[in-house]
Amino acid sequence: MDVVEILMVDHLSIRLLARCRPLEISLYEFSNLHDFIVNCHAKIEDEIVFPVLREHYIGEYEEYAKLVEWIGNDHKLLETLGNRTIEYGVDKDWENYRRRLNLYFKILMEHNHREEEEIFPKWLEEIDNMTRSKYTEKAKKIIEEYGLEKYTRLTGFSKKAFEII
Ligand SMILES: [Fe+2]
Ligand SMILES: [Fe+2]
Repeated sequence: MDVVEILMVDHLSIRLLARCRPLEISLYEFSNLHDFIVNCHAKIEDEIVFPVLREHYIGEYEEYAKLVEWIGNDHKLLETLGNRTIEYGVDKDWENYRRRLNLYFKILMEHNHREEEEIFPKWLEEIDNMTRSKYTEKAKKIIEEYGLEKYTRLTGFSKKAFEII
């Protein structure tokens, strides 16, 4: 499995959670999800997919290199927004918590959609097999550092499946 296929599985898990019951998500569940996004999912994108793609296109297709950077900037926005949402939850300000939670999922869904439309296909089409397989191993290391237990619980990916991909 390629790193972007792993990321697409993550997106599916997030999408299912967001579609089923976004506003009923407890503070505990949201904190875990946000931690996963910042310290695992977006980390793989920020440290692997985005810089490799930017590097590939820089000087050749400058506009696309800029687009990659622009989409990547959403991560900082989501990190700040998620941290603020958690603060409202800790303060038991549920009105602001739900409002921010709603906004967080809206931005995250749009962001993930753009990655699936504009980032991941280019990675699969343009980056050579050897590079992709090297970086897929790196991505798996990031997942292991984050914690396989937490990763499988959040995504629904089984540990056995993770071992064989
Ligand atoms: Fe992302
Ligand atoms: Fe993503």
